[in-house]
Amino acid sequence: MNMHMIDIIAKKRDGNALTQQEIDFVIKNYTQGLIPDYQMSAFLMAVYFNQMNDEESTYLALAMRDSGDVIDLSSIEGVKVDKHSTGGVGDKVTLILGPLLASLGVKFAKMSGRGLGHTGGTIDKLESIPGYKVELPVKKFIKQVQDIGIAIVGQSGDVAPADKKLYALRDVTATVDVIPLIASSIMSKKLASGADAIVLDVKVGHGAFMKTEEDAIKLAELMVSIGRLAGKQMTAILTGMDEPLGHKIGNALEVYEAIETLNGQGPKDLVAVTVEIGAHLLLDAGIESDFETAKIRLHEALQNGTAYQKFLDLVEAQGGNLNALDDPSKLLSKKTVSILAEKEGYITDINALDIGKAAMRLGAGRETKEDLVLLDVGLDLHLKIGSYVKKGDKLATLYVRDKGIEEAKKLILSAIQIGNEQKHLELIRKTIK
Ligand code: URA
Repeated sequence: MNMHMIDIIAKKRDGNALTQQEIDFVIKNYTQGLIPDYQMSAFLMAVYFNQMNDEESTYLALAMRDSGDVIDLSSIEGVKVDKHSTGGVGDKVTLILGPLLASLGVKFAKMSGRGLGHTGGTIDKLESIPGYKVELPVKKFIKQVQDIGIAIVGQSGDVAPADKKLYALRDVTATVDVIPLIASSIMSKKLASGADAIVLDVKVGHGAFMKTEEDAIKLAELMVSIGRLAGKQMTAILTGMDEPLGHKIGNALEVYEAIETLNGQGPKDLVAVTVEIGAHLLLDAGIESDFETAKIRLHEALQNGTAYQKFLDLVEAQGGNLNALDDPSKLLSKKTVSILAEKEGYITDINALDIGKAAMRLGAGRETKEDLVLLDVGLDLHLKIGSYVKKGDKLATLYVRDKGIEEAKKLILSAIQIGNEQKHLELIRKTIK
């Protein structure tokens, strides 16, 4: 029987579940340009209002995965692992976790994205290392993982092209914010990237896509279910994104903090999230069988220099200039501005969304996909929620060029609240395995 897009739109508009054949039809024909954007927009809005069940979301993820190349990593020995964060501020976990796991014998084959809006992207961060090449042909990508256990590259243009096209349409039709669409979008790319075991770090809070724990759990459970149905080992953890992760935000600044962490000098929250994800993946890869022992081994590798050596191997293999890492502060803009506390008390809030926006205004992020990012700007927050400050203490140092300084200052001052109560935030909220 012939299918027609108008019937499928009406079926979803009326709240009915679609079949796998119908979803395949929509994705195949939209990718080939045979379904116009106005029909796809109507379809997306119907999904926004009527949602999709778990089966439909899985079919959508699989159809988008199959719209392009599916990377075959089977020639690499052992369990290949991947991680994904739903996006946050100051989240440089991949830069630390990849070398850390590879130093313990895990194969880390990672395709990462660029930043958009208030969230940063691993690929922009890596580009702040002079010479680092983020584009590798798939054959070289695989060979590098075989040789040194790790490669971190940009997502190839041929991975999940349907998602790329659909995401751009969702962005301009107010249909980004739909859990089944987010889950299938993320999972289509993860499934196409070829890893066997995946840990998802689902962020919850001010600075995250998911503002409530209830929504974050729904998204996490759906992604885990899609991954399992596609034959992957899946874990999701829910972590807080009320305040930025670590202290430094901005591309070279985050590489700097990753280097400090790989040398055993990392901030507590950043180390905790990295080690938590790492321990799950050490178990999945069959390298450890006990979660607490896995964590101890990860902490040791951060302290004894092996994780940092693996980071240097990665940078060298991808063409980066190792001399530039001897003193990473040289990668930062020389022009700085300090922000001082206007009163005494405990830090009760550091709104991650506003901090992310401040970094973007300075030029560290992009508002549209075409914007150029400045790699050497951003901010270093000297304090975390719960710290005590006196009037005049330095709250943050901004690394700036000429752009957005006043706006960033205002955003940061309103993001950091000072009060009488000493708050403690829970960082790792839940594990879904
Ligand atoms: N990240 C994605 O890759 N897709 C979404 O839909 C949302 C966040």
